[in-house]
Amino acid sequence: SYSHKINIAIDGPAGAGKSTVARMVASALQYIYVDTGAMYRAVTLKALESGFSTEDNELVGRLAHEMDIVLLPGSDTQRVIVDDEDVTSRLRSLEINRNVSYVARLEGVRKRMAELQRRMAQQKGVVMDGRDIGTHVLPDAELKIFLTATPRERATRRFLELGPDADITLDQLEAEIARRDQLDQEREIAPLLQAPDARLIDSTGRTVDEVAEEIVQWGLAATRTI
Ligand code: DC
Repeated sequence: SYSHKINIAIDGPAGAGKSTVARMVASALQYIYVDTGAMYRAVTLKALESGFSTEDNELVGRLAHEMDIVLLPGSDTQRVIVDDEDVTSRLRSLEINRNVSYVARLEGVRKRMAELQRRMAQQKGVVMDGRDIGTHVLPDAELKIFLTATPRERATRRFLELGPDADITLDQLEAEIARRDQLDQEREIAPLLQAPDARLIDSTGRTVDEVAEEIVQWGLAATRTI
């Protein structure tokens, strides 16, 4: 029956199209979309604002536990409310991009984020995108996707997303993305990794509609087999 909801985990490197695809899948299935990268970005913003070192597990870990993070699902983009302030528009800056992988390495931060994420997925019916959702946060997710694309294609997508005013070249952006992937893959706790039971999708040269449709069909199939 379609009334049984499942959880869908979508992991992969930066710029693979996870958030766009996840949002479309959630909308097609009438599920809730959860962008976990935005949560790490919110902690990074708060740490930078507080003048903390992004490598200080003690301080930033405590901050992550004390701050109030609310994700509001929206039709175009998920809003992120931190301590009653809407910080959505400030989460995708180059400064946050450059610091977020350091914050995401901290044990105290990861522990708190995973706890909040598991709580959001408790009732099922979420499409959650991130780096460690299939491997660590929701190991029992009924459908796991690992979404990739070539580094050049991923850099190009982020370049277009930043717009003409961005003070960075495509080559620089590709190097920064490669650096971030490396940090995410090599960190000790819950690194970026394809779960053994995840389906691999390479989105290079494919439209987001195609990829989302494929995942929706798998989602419906998984829903039926429960
Ligand atoms: O998906 P994104 O680019 O917004 O993610 C930002 C950073 O957050 C990414 O470089 C690694 C980190 N992250 C993570 O460690 N675990 C997640 N589940 C999601 C994001």
